[in-house]
Amino acid sequence: MKKTPIMYGLGLFILLAVTGGILSTVVENYFILVLVLIVQFIILFLVVLHFLDRYTTPVQKAIHTVDQLLNGNFRARVHHPASGLVNELHMNINKLARNLSELSFQEQIQSEQLLTVVDNTVSGLVLVDEKGYIHLVNRKFLSMFGGTAEDYRGFLYYEVLESEVIHETVQNTFLYEQNVKNSFVRQNETDKTYMEVVGAPIFNERKMVKGAVLVFYDITELKKLERMRKDFVANVSHELKTPITSINGFSETLLDGAMNDPEVLEEFLQIIFKESKRLQLLIQDLLTLSMLEKDDFIPVKNNIDIDQLVMDIEPMIERKAAQKNITYTKNIQAGLLLEGNSAQIRQLFINLLDNAVSYTPEQGDVTLSVSEENDDVIIRVADNGIGISKSQLERVFERFYRVDKARSRNTGGTGLGLAIVKHIVEVHKGQINIDSEEQKGTTVTVRFPKRTVYDVQN
Ligand SMILES: Nc1ncnc2c1ncn2[C@@H]1O[C@H](COP(=O)(O)OP(=O)(O)OP(=O)(O)O)[C@@H](O)[C@H]1O
Ligand SMILES: [Mg+2]
Repeated sequence: MKKTPIMYGLGLFILLAVTGGILSTVVENYFILVLVLIVQFIILFLVVLHFLDRYTTPVQKAIHTVDQLLNGNFRARVHHPASGLVNELHMNINKLARNLSELSFQEQIQSEQLLTVVDNTVSGLVLVDEKGYIHLVNRKFLSMFGGTAEDYRGFLYYEVLESEVIHETVQNTFLYEQNVKNSFVRQNETDKTYMEVVGAPIFNERKMVKGAVLVFYDITELKKLERMRKDFVANVSHELKTPITSINGFSETLLDGAMNDPEVLEEFLQIIFKESKRLQLLIQDLLTLSMLEKDDFIPVKNNIDIDQLVMDIEPMIERKAAQKNITYTKNIQAGLLLEGNSAQIRQLFINLLDNAVSYTPEQGDVTLSVSEENDDVIIRVADNGIGISKSQLERVFERFYRVDKARSRNTGGTGLGLAIVKHIVEVHKGQINIDSEEQKGTTVTVRFPKRTVYDVQN
């Protein structure tokens, strides 16, 4: 049978009644009276203790555990033994604690995952609340703008973000409640960084703006590419315009009557022929470049006999060298084979040798050497010509770049030769290096793996 507080009370009542009866009979004996009172007190004390242990302490333990849960300690549990309703209460509190602990664990994992994503994103991120206080900045943002998270978190955005454009972006995001995109330039002592910032509003469940995320992109590379593209179009147009104007002018003069003079006719036709040739070469070079620049371009692979290839192109070079009394020497290791695209490797030899002869004054020397080294084929073209200054050296592979524009144009050059060479080297997974000293000469070294890695296409 279950012992309830009523039963305990009843027991106590009977006990007092019985002891009261005894008291009335033995009241004369003080000693017995005191003894009975002590016994009565002890019994009462034990009963109170029992009540405390059975009901009050378990409830106090339960309250203490709930307090701990309220303070965020989800590991708190009630361990005190209890029975009946109090036991049920304990079990429910422990169940609630387990659920809370599981939920907080899940939440912690989710927020950690979110923070990892936010921190590792390639764009800078800033979270601003509706009052303008910054709550979060990610690692990329700090690497872009400097400082630590503490320099931004808890501050108003306009106190710590320097650019007016950013302020405007935040204000317009809140004002129009939609994404706002702007760009700005950051200038430090040495360089310029082009930035783009996008403000995106954050809405709560009642569709009210609760804040904004600012996303920062570094668009310097894109700007550079855009400038290169614009430069390229301008250069191509300029290079095309010169021969076309010339052809147009001379043919018009001929048609206007100059063709009747055989001497003038011959001279003008020669110019027209030369200019049209120049146009043809330019267009050919542009086509070669655009073909080589295609991402998925894989050249058709041939087994190239280097000796043979050099012998094929030599007459062209020798003729040009002879016109300037330049001594052309070759030093080619016998029996060398190279896996690559023969048309392109041929073009590479022509472009390098042509440069060596073009930029070497009369009586100079041009040497071509090809050898094998650790399964690589090394091609070296050296001259003792005008050379290139250190500052210009890194630019000679750019399209249309010419050190001395007037001189190159006189030699018929368009400034695409080395850009093409560089691309050919890249598609063959090789390396190119250029050494030069002004008025001393230039050496271009190309290293190709004997067997290229790209797939064969036929
Ligand atoms: N061997 C060299 N010695 C000195 N300067 C050179 C040498 N090779 C290249 N250059 C410089 O580099 C520039 C770029 O060379 P590149 O071959 O790309 O163009 P180019 O010779 O002017 O024209 P082309 O497109 O007809 O080859 C040249 O204009 C020249 O100023
Ligand atoms: Mg050239």
